[in-house]
Amino acid sequence: MRAMNTQELIELKNNVLLGNYARPDFVLTHGKGMYLYDADGKEYLDFVAGIAVNAFGYGDERTMQVLHEQAAKLWHCSNLYHNEPQVLLAQFLTERTFADKVFFCNSGTEANEAAIKFCRKWATLNRGPECMQIISFTKSFHGRTYGALSATGQTKLQDNFGPMLPGFAFAEFNNLESVQKLVNDQTCAIIAEPVQGEGGIYPATAEFMQGLRKLCDDRNLLLVLDEVQCGFGRTGKFCAYEHFGVEPDLATYAKPIAGGLPLGAVLLKDKIAAAIKPGDHGCTFGGGPLTTRVALDILQRIAASQFLAAINEKSGYLQNKLRALQAQFPAIKEVRGLGLMIGVELTIDPAQLIAACYRQGLLICKTGSNAVRLLPPLIVANKHIDEFTGKFKAALSALETTT
Ligand SMILES: Cc1ncc(COP(=O)(O)O)c(C=O)c1O
Repeated sequence: MRAMNTQELIELKNNVLLGNYARPDFVLTHGKGMYLYDADGKEYLDFVAGIAVNAFGYGDERTMQVLHEQAAKLWHCSNLYHNEPQVLLAQFLTERTFADKVFFCNSGTEANEAAIKFCRKWATLNRGPECMQIISFTKSFHGRTYGALSATGQTKLQDNFGPMLPGFAFAEFNNLESVQKLVNDQTCAIIAEPVQGEGGIYPATAEFMQGLRKLCDDRNLLLVLDEVQCGFGRTGKFCAYEHFGVEPDLATYAKPIAGGLPLGAVLLKDKIAAAIKPGDHGCTFGGGPLTTRVALDILQRIAASQFLAAINEKSGYLQNKLRALQAQFPAIKEVRGLGLMIGVELTIDPAQLIAACYRQGLLICKTGSNAVRLLPPLIVANKHIDEFTGKFKAALSALETTT
């Protein structure tokens, strides 16, 4: 089969792929370490990591070895039967986190769907069937299917898809009083991202997270933390909640968990797990032996204390570079974030800056309405941050001279 060139492929995709993504006009073909390459041989320094997924970048030798070994043994057998990697991954996660039990699925959205069901089943059994309301936050993002979308505090994502699932109310992020006002006898849970990712990179304050925990304890509510984007090393801690001195009752994970293979997880305490019986929930692919075997290796490496410490150092280095650029470029309004999850709020159109970065051979992505997001693979080194700074500065300068 003759390989298509970029133009041919983009023309074909316009005829055959659903138009739900707005993508730039290049086609990625392969990657190595921190770099991706397109069909025309252009190199891109990657500060997106497949949206906080590829923690070890591209072509990681160890991941490939684990993947091949497991693929040769067994890659799917359904959840009708036990498989060893699934159990070993759950053991690792329960030893390393607040959780007593784990449920595996395929994505962050599915993890949140499951968490919503688990909260409502727990509440039905423990507090009564009318107790089904979940408090979420404005600017939150929990996924695109109906439960997760109904929990998402961004009406622009819900418009034209109504009606949403009933039973969700929205408070203001980092404003405890706004949550207290919404709690009533029908409230069963609060769902929050420790660092809001899609909404603009807004880290929670410790005071807010501790306030949510206390509110949940006082009113017999479940605290669900959506760590799909911020979990597993991204913020410089294994789990993001570790920054705040609180533990959730349930937490959801996906993105980096299996190095780019689709896997999601709900971590939960025994008191909620006790409400779930065989047949209550399930998934054909979730927690298959291939994804869980790879995930165990990936998560063991992320959880190593030196690896996490290095993320914090690199975060400081990157944020210093960005603040120096902020002093030079009025286009940069604010730099915020935690670990290697950094938002740069702009006074200019983020799409223009992203396009200018593509021209420099740099991948970054948008968040919220007026910011770009930096989510490099966790293996990023200071030399890559220097290279990023040069390319980002060149992109900003090019825009200054053209506007
Ligand atoms: C915080 C959060 N929750 C849920 C999701 C949905 O995850 P997925 O795209 O894997 O379904 C995302 C995706 O960006 C996310 O950032």
